[in-house]
Amino acid sequence: MSRIVYVNGAFVPEEDAKISVFDRGFLFADGVYEVSSVLDGKLIDNDGHLKRLHRSMDELEMKAPASDEAITAAQQELISRNNVKEGLVYLQVTRGSADRDFAYPPAETPSTLVMFTQQKNLLNAPQAENGIKVASIPDIRWKRRDIKTVGLLAPSMGKMQAKKAGADDAWMIEDGFVTEGTSNNAYIITQDNVLVTRHAGHEILNGITRRAILKLAEQTELTIEERPFTLDEAYAAKEAFVTSATTFVWPVVEIDGHTIADGQPGPFAKQLRALYIAEAMAD
Ligand code: PDD
Repeated sequence: MSRIVYVNGAFVPEEDAKISVFDRGFLFADGVYEVSSVLDGKLIDNDGHLKRLHRSMDELEMKAPASDEAITAAQQELISRNNVKEGLVYLQVTRGSADRDFAYPPAETPSTLVMFTQQKNLLNAPQAENGIKVASIPDIRWKRRDIKTVGLLAPSMGKMQAKKAGADDAWMIEDGFVTEGTSNNAYIITQDNVLVTRHAGHEILNGITRRAILKLAEQTELTIEERPFTLDEAYAAKEAFVTSATTFVWPVVEIDGHTIADGQPGPFAKQLRALYIAEAMAD
């Protein structure tokens, strides 16, 4: 069945949605996006996603296409029109359309706002139950990964490289340290119960789920270190996992063919996932 999508203020069937071929998102990947999960028909952590959207837009001198209230109302309208109980809302802002030119068009050029929903099994994803395998690859992305742009070819290539290597996803390596997963943040737990994840900076996207998980980790026996970690530390870890809006927490059970601990999802990853879901459902 066709979805209803949102384009610049209008709710239209997906077949009728139109974007200009001159849209700078299409020509220059000159756009930013957010993915918010939906559980029980409700948006999860959406305020955090909208806050990060503003940060991304500010970094690129991009104008907000609508107020947060109007965006949230449209997200909710899409959820209800498409009857989404579990899944995600994708939101994208691009710098609008203009004659092709590397320099930004005049500031009054209207930005383009597009949103759509996707049904997805989040709570009972098999990856949450069984864990995933990751393969390490060089991080070939640009140097402003803290901005959530739609320029996603490098992580797409990385995901394909991982699949060809028989893994489910890739962890990207720069200067000998893990940055993050292709579309998620990466964590290890050391043998003495230290939760290690890369500190926020230009090298990674500071995940909204990451922030929630680090806060929830304070309720566990884990101590937290936000710093770069190496693959050797990861191979020797007690546990490893990834987080994102659409995975919540997925345990990592194998890295580059090295089994992590006994190869089963670890208790801390399970605990953090359960805490995150309980908090999300309670809101
Ligand atoms: N990806 N790092 C990268 C490179 C990401 O693309 C994502 C999210 C994250 C996790 O961020 P958050 O917890 O805010 O979802 C980290 C989304 C889900 C995507 O592109 O589909």
